[in-house]
Amino acid sequence: MDNRILVTGGAGFIGSHTVVELIEAGFEPIIIDNFSNSYPFIISNLEKITGKKIKYYEVDCNDQPALEKVFEKEENINGVIHFAAFKAVGESVEQPLKYYRNNVASVITLLEVMAKYNVENLVFSSSCTVYGEPDELPVMEDSLVKLANSPYGNTKQVCEEILKDYVSSNALLKAIALRYFNPIGAHPSSLIGELPIGKPNNLIPFITQTAIGIRSELTVFGDNYETPDGSCIRDYIHVVDLAKAHVKAIIYANKQETRSFYDIFNVGTGQGNSVFEIIKAFNEASGTTLNYKIGPKRDGDVTQVYGDVSKSLKLLEWKTEKSLLDSLRDAWNWQKHLEKQNYGI
Ligand code: WQD
Repeated sequence: MDNRILVTGGAGFIGSHTVVELIEAGFEPIIIDNFSNSYPFIISNLEKITGKKIKYYEVDCNDQPALEKVFEKEENINGVIHFAAFKAVGESVEQPLKYYRNNVASVITLLEVMAKYNVENLVFSSSCTVYGEPDELPVMEDSLVKLANSPYGNTKQVCEEILKDYVSSNALLKAIALRYFNPIGAHPSSLIGELPIGKPNNLIPFITQTAIGIRSELTVFGDNYETPDGSCIRDYIHVVDLAKAHVKAIIYANKQETRSFYDIFNVGTGQGNSVFEIIKAFNEASGTTLNYKIGPKRDGDVTQVYGDVSKSLKLLEWKTEKSLLDSLRDAWNWQKHLEKQNYGI
């Protein structure tokens, strides 16, 4: 198998961790990133972690001529892992066209360029948000895809439909959609991790920024949900485990004999944890006591979602290896590392 893989959004949170795991598995990743939601220093930190020179292109996936130039220049590309997308649920409600333009149009552009250069393997970054508020738990890949509760979630649903329809048209494409649950944590080296710009939307970066004193306190968005302790339940997966799933997925896509192939996999731990359980586990992992208060529910939050991951175990030969405490400890170490560095962010 040719080992050269294009990673769009490869300087981002999940993309950068996947670049590390691709190199560890003997691949040669080439990063495409427009740095709209990431930083060039991540590339040099990736080179420190892996000891390898990493080629990258500052390109927007919606810029078809620029994207074609990359495919023109880089020969023997075996496949693409497509992370490049906006992902803030709240922002997508305020700026839906920005999300449809960037998240959906970029997939169409990428598919057209892949076809032009006969690149046939694709791993697509999808999301558990496609399940909405599930009727049954854990959600399976064939669970009902509900009306998305945000334009962001809808962009993921639309992109999955685009892949399915395109493959059904007998296109030269073997595509895998990975439905992520809640990616958290950071690389154990503390050289790469989650880098929210401005006030974090997501729970874990808000917790670590509160614990280090950047934020005064965490607001728990609601403690009267229909759950054992009243707070929402999610499936929190270590970003390194999630990255490894992408390596397994591109290998699995490449293995398919048929010209046109599409499949979907849940990528999570298979376990649910509540917000209060996360706070308790973070206190244990960090040796700190988190300052928090209870606030109103957040629009768009589902009560609970976590996934059945037996299909990924069986077909991708992948399962999580890291614990919730590993994730929270790595997230906390990354926050402390950021404090000491002057990355100029
Ligand atoms: C988790 C829980 C909040 C912040 C996100 C992305 C989604 C997908 C999965 C990529 C919820 C609570 C949060 C805070 C809180 N990622 N919370 N106080 O919303 O499950 O989904 O990850 O595909 O796109 O949006 O993650 O971390 O925002 O929230 O109480 O300050 O933490 O109510 O119950 P979410 P989250």
